[in-house]
Amino acid sequence: MECDDHDSAASATLARPREFETTSPSARRTEAIGYCLGRLLRLGDVLCVSGDLGAGKTVLSRGIGAGWGATTPLTSPTYNLVHEHERAGDKARLFHLDLYRVSGLQDAESLSIDEILDCGGLVIFEWPERILDSLPAERLWIDIMMRADDGRDLLFEARGDGYISLLNALRRALAIRR
Ligand SMILES: Nc1ncnc2c1ncn2[C@@H]1O[C@H](COP(=O)(O)OP(=O)(O)OP(=O)(O)O)[C@@H](O)[C@H]1O
Ligand SMILES: [Mg+2]
Repeated sequence: MECDDHDSAASATLARPREFETTSPSARRTEAIGYCLGRLLRLGDVLCVSGDLGAGKTVLSRGIGAGWGATTPLTSPTYNLVHEHERAGDKARLFHLDLYRVSGLQDAESLSIDEILDCGGLVIFEWPERILDSLPAERLWIDIMMRADDGRDLLFEARGDGYISLLNALRRALAIRR
């Protein structure tokens, strides 16, 4: 699958839409899309991955973690809602949170969401709608919707200039033409 580097993908485009949608026919493709995204990420990026139970949030996150360079695979959480991963080389940190069982501000505080967001690592939230008020205004939101044919529609929405650039780089990396 085509997946360009950030440098070649970063040059400005005339139109810089803040959204794009793509369809993934398989878990493998969803993971590959995540991998492409993971290669483009900067430290401090915040990704919100939303969708019903079994939509593919963890599959996408696993690809993101692999593309980013995490030394351990991203998995579904068992008891821990916060999973921390590291990248070889620069020792950068990735936080992967599953907030399914979380409800509201108090839980967000007990999970130290603010501290996690302040650490400068990469942060991926599954079930981000659970802590909407605690999320930074600038972020990449990804909605995964299940289709009748078992495929998935992935809708990416960027908030903030940095994320709009990221999204455009992703569109190019996936060789998607509008
Ligand atoms: N196109 C697809 N993209 C992603 N996953 C798919 C696709 N088609 C089938 N699947 C399957 O759907 C399941 C998605 O599971 P996953 O754990 O990623 O969901 P989730 O959204 O993280 O669920 P949860 O809300 O329980 O955390 C996997 O078993 C995967 O193989
Ligand atoms: Mg999951």
